[in-house]
Amino acid sequence: MELYERIPNNVNLSQDKRLQRALEKWLPNYLEWWREMGPEGFQDKDVYLRTAVGVDAEGWANFDYVKMPDYRWGIFLKPAEADARVGFGDNYGMPVYQEVPGEFRNALRRIIVTQGDTEPASVEQQRQLGKTCPSLYDLRNLFQVNVEEGRHLWAMVYLLHGYFGRDGRDEADALLERRSGNPDRPRILEAFNQPCDDWLNFFCFTMFTDRDGKYQLAALAESGFEPLARTCQFMLTEEAHHLFVGETGVGRVVKRTAELMKQSKDGDARELGGISLDIIQKYINFWFSYSLDLFGGEISSNSADFFAAGLKGRFKEQDQYEDHIAAEGSFTLTVVEDGKLAQREVPLRNALNEVLRGEYVKDCERAMTRWNKYLTDAGVDAQLYLPSTRFHRHVGEFAGHYFDVQGNMITKEEFESRQSEWLPTIEDREYVRSLMHAVTEPGKIANWIAPPSAGIKGKPFEFEYVRL
Ligand SMILES: [Fe+2]
Ligand SMILES: [Fe+2]
Repeated sequence: MELYERIPNNVNLSQDKRLQRALEKWLPNYLEWWREMGPEGFQDKDVYLRTAVGVDAEGWANFDYVKMPDYRWGIFLKPAEADARVGFGDNYGMPVYQEVPGEFRNALRRIIVTQGDTEPASVEQQRQLGKTCPSLYDLRNLFQVNVEEGRHLWAMVYLLHGYFGRDGRDEADALLERRSGNPDRPRILEAFNQPCDDWLNFFCFTMFTDRDGKYQLAALAESGFEPLARTCQFMLTEEAHHLFVGETGVGRVVKRTAELMKQSKDGDARELGGISLDIIQKYINFWFSYSLDLFGGEISSNSADFFAAGLKGRFKEQDQYEDHIAAEGSFTLTVVEDGKLAQREVPLRNALNEVLRGEYVKDCERAMTRWNKYLTDAGVDAQLYLPSTRFHRHVGEFAGHYFDVQGNMITKEEFESRQSEWLPTIEDREYVRSLMHAVTEPGKIANWIAPPSAGIKGKPFEFEYVRL
């Protein structure tokens, strides 16, 4: 473990001078990017942060006050397993690859760059949020997510520099050049160019969009390309907290909305300065649909090639499946044919994006059940729901067609005339923004959200998570 090096790592960086030099050259550019695009207005504040200092299940992280620019971003991979084997596809059972298989070099680089691009993008999307935090606890969680997305960028840049030679280096530089929402040099995926300028957006983003990350990382964590697998395994450890922030964040908004609905004369949370359920629902519809796009097309020859090569598997491939070759099976999915919905049977390997998306949807449904329980417990009749996976899609079979939230096909005109019922309007967004005022006194919380049920690392909610 090289914990006190310039770049903390457990990959023996000091033994590989070429790689070490390359990364040390990238480091100042990264710090410059962080100062320019990281959280605005808080760079010199002490934040109670978790820093990865190892990869043991026990004690992999250290909690202490840190100024964000001094955060120890490091490179950590889960330790290699002895005699690891490719877990699926045509090379099932062969020794795992230590180098990039030549014919998949471009495709694999694309996967790593696309994943890598999301990490700094989300930091950029969230950089203004600190100024309107609902509590110090939430402020700290925002910054925790931000610094760890920074570390995830390091993780991907390590792979690019370490395994892709010259073009890997160029790609690593480009990761610091694109900017979320910039029309001339946007981030690669659309969800990462959407503004995330209020806290309901932030919680929906960490709930739905970070959760896509969990499923992509999980599928890559069993990759036959071992350095990628071990990198993703460790990233998943950190990612769990981001998903917790999102799921409990939306949950706390729902809980508070339910309370305010009961207190108000007309059952309207807005009367008492809360966020109404219909606005929460529209934000869910927006982020859920954009996040579904991140899984790619329903029918995909890429997904088949990647599976065949043993590079990207299914969710929990080893635990959930018996047949890891999946050469014979088929999968029936809904498609649009001659302007109508139809069922089509395709080879299973071509449907793996859809299979992964299905796992994701199940996970979102689980969270939805939990949020709805807050409504029931408070005695509120209404319920939240997930829209159909066909609704508001920009990638795959349903892109270019129009559906209502139940998934019924409708005309473009009908969609346009009804979309203000389903997606946040400018007025909705302005209303939510009008509620966003910083609450920074320890133990206090904004009116539109319930406090968390526990603090961080055994500390109480009143703890001074950020020293302002
Ligand atoms: Fe990440
Ligand atoms: Fe994340």
